[in-house]
Amino acid sequence: MSAALRDSVGREEALPPLHRLDFGTPGPPERVELPDGSPAWLVSRYADVRQVLGDARFGRAGLYAPDGPSLPDVPVLVNDPDLLFNQDGPEHLRLRRTMHRAFTPRAVARWQPWIAAIVEQLLDGLSSRETPVDIVAGFALPLPVAVVSRLMGLDASARDRMRHWSEYALSNGSRPEEEVGAAMAEFSAFGAELLARRRAEPGDDLVSGLVHAADEEGGIPEAQLVSLVCGLVVGGHDSTMTMLSNSLLYLLGERPESWPLLATSGEEAAGRVADRLLHGIPLGDDRGTTRLAHEDAEVGGVFIPAGGVVVADCGMANRDPAVFSAPWSEDLFAPLETPTLSFGAGPHYCLGAWLARTELQLALHRLAARFPGLRLTDPPASVRWRLGSTSRGPVRLAVTW
Ligand code: HEM
Repeated sequence: MSAALRDSVGREEALPPLHRLDFGTPGPPERVELPDGSPAWLVSRYADVRQVLGDARFGRAGLYAPDGPSLPDVPVLVNDPDLLFNQDGPEHLRLRRTMHRAFTPRAVARWQPWIAAIVEQLLDGLSSRETPVDIVAGFALPLPVAVVSRLMGLDASARDRMRHWSEYALSNGSRPEEEVGAAMAEFSAFGAELLARRRAEPGDDLVSGLVHAADEEGGIPEAQLVSLVCGLVVGGHDSTMTMLSNSLLYLLGERPESWPLLATSGEEAAGRVADRLLHGIPLGDDRGTTRLAHEDAEVGGVFIPAGGVVVADCGMANRDPAVFSAPWSEDLFAPLETPTLSFGAGPHYCLGAWLARTELQLALHRLAARFPGLRLTDPPASVRWRLGSTSRGPVRLAVTW
């Protein structure tokens, strides 16, 4: 195993599965310390988190400026100031508009038939294999990779390098700097070349749509478009792969009674289960999303001065008893009573939320329909974790049926 790969894989017996993380009880905004000792505010109640994420006085721009706050373990991709996620106000809107229409629920509904076809193809592949089969390598990873490749019109070589780039793009200081720099330079060159190719020869993929929309908007820096393309390649598959793997670990490990029901209750019911899993199982151990106060503001009765850093804990807010009366896992098939914060809220609300939800819904429903007797072959406690900075998921999950 290469050193680069080894440091992203851990057999950390102490790490609980993500559905078992202890989130604590939300309360009023609380003073915490950043690594350099400067103050930050932890916001954890549902209403306060929604306020911070939707309030224009709090933003992302400036968080990674040279004189910005000292933030811990920021992944390489996320600390790029050109990233959509790190723009605010009109600049953010202008860039987001280039992609927004492609990801609406109605647009994603049109993709449903071919996403389902990819799912079926992968299930055909699985059913011809000897068990035990690793469901991460055989299903949870290739599904979102195939979906994002088709959406962006990527060829096989880009598909093969996608995981490699993601490992570096989402790393947070644990890898040698030169290696990260080289991988990110290669990734950006790939993004720039892809944009140039689609500009010269447009097709019906998302990158061609992006180029067209950016020309219509006018004035968007090329570096922002490159970051957007790279962000979609990484964001489009890593989070969905992690979510699907962790969902399977939970369902097969702790809720085996619900597995056959996922098949028989229909696709819509599977969508409600997907919503609950997305709500209850975080992507990784780091639950807070950070904002900078651009002006003085009050949140939950607490004064936060301009320049203050706010960490909004969506995971804790998702368990706020003031808005969620029962534990998320009590009835997996019941609709959520309040919208989840797992995809954020406000202007940076996850662009790929409906796509991720659709992939999870189709994947779980059809996997259960094809393999109603699916079960883990190893005890859940023996899982080895792939440790990313923003996500944690099983390296492999052996299953049989
Ligand atoms: C289980 C899957 C996913 C989860 C849990 C998730 C979660 C999130 C969250 C919480 C945010 C907002 C962060 C914040 O405000 O601080 C976000 C933003 C974003 N997500 Fe996702 N995501 C998922 C899948 C995807 C997919 C499949 C794509 C792309 C196709 C995607 C693309 C994006 C983009 C581009 C943003 C930034 C939006 C902006 O700044 O305007 N995500 N995601």
